[in-house]
Amino acid sequence: MRLAFFGGIYSNHLALAAAIADARSRGVDAMWCLGDLGGFGPHPDRTCELIRNNNVSVVQGNYDHSIGHGLNDCQCGYTDPRDNHFAQLSYDYTLTHNCDDHRTWMRTLPAQQRVEFDGVRLLLCHGSPRRTNEFLWDSTTSTQFLAKMCDNNACDVILGTHTGLHWQRTWDERGAVSTKSRGFINVGVLGRPENDGTINVWYTLLRTGGDVGAGEAPLPWEVEFVPLIYDHERLACEMRDERLPDEFIQTILTGWWTTCLEVLPSKERRRGQW
Ligand SMILES: [Fe+2]
Repeated sequence: MRLAFFGGIYSNHLALAAAIADARSRGVDAMWCLGDLGGFGPHPDRTCELIRNNNVSVVQGNYDHSIGHGLNDCQCGYTDPRDNHFAQLSYDYTLTHNCDDHRTWMRTLPAQQRVEFDGVRLLLCHGSPRRTNEFLWDSTTSTQFLAKMCDNNACDVILGTHTGLHWQRTWDERGAVSTKSRGFINVGVLGRPENDGTINVWYTLLRTGGDVGAGEAPLPWEVEFVPLIYDHERLACEMRDERLPDEFIQTILTGWWTTCLEVLPSKERRRGQW
């Protein structure tokens, strides 16, 4: 099976449309979005329509929970006042521009989904299985912790998003780092680039039931992180027309984050320019 996973869309409907087309061209059998449909970008209804019209299954992110229930903020989990200021501007815009039908639909989305392909048990969530808005960073998350989460949730692979940076780790049944059996995958986000000075965004392909080599057991699953080019200049124009913060537009145009840097651990922060 070939499966596509999209992380936070953040209303980047142009990247989402490009990702759906790209995944289809690779012959995927199914597509999932791991939540956070809105925020940051323009015209949130367009993202919902694309998701709903293209048979993309969805796990509820913190943003979708907030918009669906009409809460006062996005529950993103930022601690810095400047980050929260920009997050609030974005949230208020998104809440105002989502139609009632989409908001009702968001309320019904599951917080997690379990699926099994070729004997590989997948747990799909937004931040982590224990908290929707938990930030799991590569540099600060131990393999022991990830292995325990898999054991506690009776699954082989956990897939999440929320942080904005893709990464993966695999280990074996004894908890040793290995290419075998178990894993955690942050599928990245379609909503904005990864703070590395490039304008592409990322999504993830997962393949189960791989070919059996001569005398070898098949790998139970394989991951491919896909860099995705889309019309980022058009998105920036739309954001400008909607009077969204210039700080957000600069991120789309340059590939560098201008907000939400305070949540980054030092190692992830060093890859950026600030
Ligand atoms: Fe999130």
